[in-house]
Amino acid sequence: MKLCMIGTGYVGLVSGACFSDLGNDVICVDRDLKKVTDLKKGIIPIYEPGLDELVLKNYKNKRLKFSTDLKDSVSKSDVVFICVGTPSKKNGNGADLSQIYNVAKEIRSSISKFKIIITKSTVSVTTGDEIEKIILQKVSKKLFSVVSNPEFLREGEAIRDFYKPDRIVIGTNDKKSNNLLKNLYSPLISRGAKYINTSRRAAELIKYASNAFLATKITFINEMANLCEKIDVNIEDISIGIGLDKRIGGRFLRAGPAYGGSCFPKDTKAIVTTGNQFQTNLSVIKSVIKSNENRSSLLLKRVFNILKGKVKNKKICFLGVTFKANTDDMRDSSSLFMIPSLIKKGAKINYFDPTGEKVEFKKLKNVKFSNNINSAIKQSDLIIIHTEWNDFKSINFKKEVQNKKFMIFDMRNIYSSIKMKKSNIKYYGVGC
Ligand SMILES: NC(=O)c1ccc[n+]([C@@H]2O[C@H](COP(=O)([O-])OP(=O)(O)OC[C@H]3O[C@@H](n4cnc5c(N)ncnc54)[C@H](O)[C@@H]3O)[C@@H](O)[C@H]2O)c1
Repeated sequence: MKLCMIGTGYVGLVSGACFSDLGNDVICVDRDLKKVTDLKKGIIPIYEPGLDELVLKNYKNKRLKFSTDLKDSVSKSDVVFICVGTPSKKNGNGADLSQIYNVAKEIRSSISKFKIIITKSTVSVTTGDEIEKIILQKVSKKLFSVVSNPEFLREGEAIRDFYKPDRIVIGTNDKKSNNLLKNLYSPLISRGAKYINTSRRAAELIKYASNAFLATKITFINEMANLCEKIDVNIEDISIGIGLDKRIGGRFLRAGPAYGGSCFPKDTKAIVTTGNQFQTNLSVIKSVIKSNENRSSLLLKRVFNILKGKVKNKKICFLGVTFKANTDDMRDSSSLFMIPSLIKKGAKINYFDPTGEKVEFKKLKNVKFSNNINSAIKQSDLIIIHTEWNDFKSINFKKEVQNKKFMIFDMRNIYSSIKMKKSNIKYYGVGC
């Protein structure tokens, strides 16, 4: 099939590359000229394991193309995926859908034969109805169908998630579109992916309800961790003990920092706004948002306690600053709150991240990037393990850290507190 991905970010680039690898002709469009020029030179704008090879292979065999010309790319395609950003509105009230609606307006003049217009971006319920109205102003109803096909891939696992999704959700009442899309996804369905066809509004809501539920699971276990710290119980025992119950399931039950990233924070807020719009009080999600917002302050207080209140001039090392491992995404990472707060109290920060230096910290005084783990931790009074990269799982702290009174605050519980204590290392985990 001839596909067009509008927006070549985490979602558009990954799914565009994977669809081309399945034998489709794909044009990835972006308004960012530098991104498109770089991609044509083989420079991949994001860190995602395995993506480089996939893009290069399919770009070379000409199944994958890059362009800034939206109208031309849409006119050459049968299926158009809208994959642009849907961030929170500046006033915090719901999703800013302006990029989606701009695309809907831009593509109208390129529809002269039947096309399926798909929202892969996460969009509020009824956005599909609005897109349809916008396109209908200029295009006959017979020439297009607006479908919701939410994306569930996780950064860091995106390619695996594309090829082996738990489910593919197609929101449309149009049989022709449903059949075409079932055909497009047939290589994944034959590998075991469940295909479900729902109404368009249901598909839009499935995405938000999934993210809100996962955010609730994380927040739940984080609050359990708070209780564990007071009663001398290890949260890892609780996670295993409840996760083995098949009704609950063990995933998303690891205590740690506040959830962040490009999805959960904005999507939980957006679904609450949708609830308000339709006079429905989503009180559980509201309290999840509140609890998560408090989480970073709570962990920061713990840092102050570990340092017995003496933060001034303390050398603190952050291992990992992105919101999770295996991604370079800094959006809503809790380090963006913790590092500036610690500097304000006079701390000196050194950080290492496997995905390199971050622009977000470049202008901050007393924040330095080290380009390897050993030089980052060498002078530290306190080492904070902020993300769970494999690179951080077997560090010989005793050998590498010069200050023999160093301490570790492992916000991901990647080390065993028992083994650390046996090695006489002052070690603090989360929920233990
Ligand atoms: N990142 C994830 O893990 C993930 C997972 C599932 C769903 N989503 C959803 O997918 C959507 C996209 O997320 P992302 O992380 O890929 O965003 P992103 O910011 O990485 O990429 C969006 C891209 O769209 C481009 N763009 C914006 N307007 C455009 C236009 N008019 N024409 C051409 N290009 C345009 C931007 O330049 C940018 O490169 C969001 O709604 C997000 O919630 C993201």
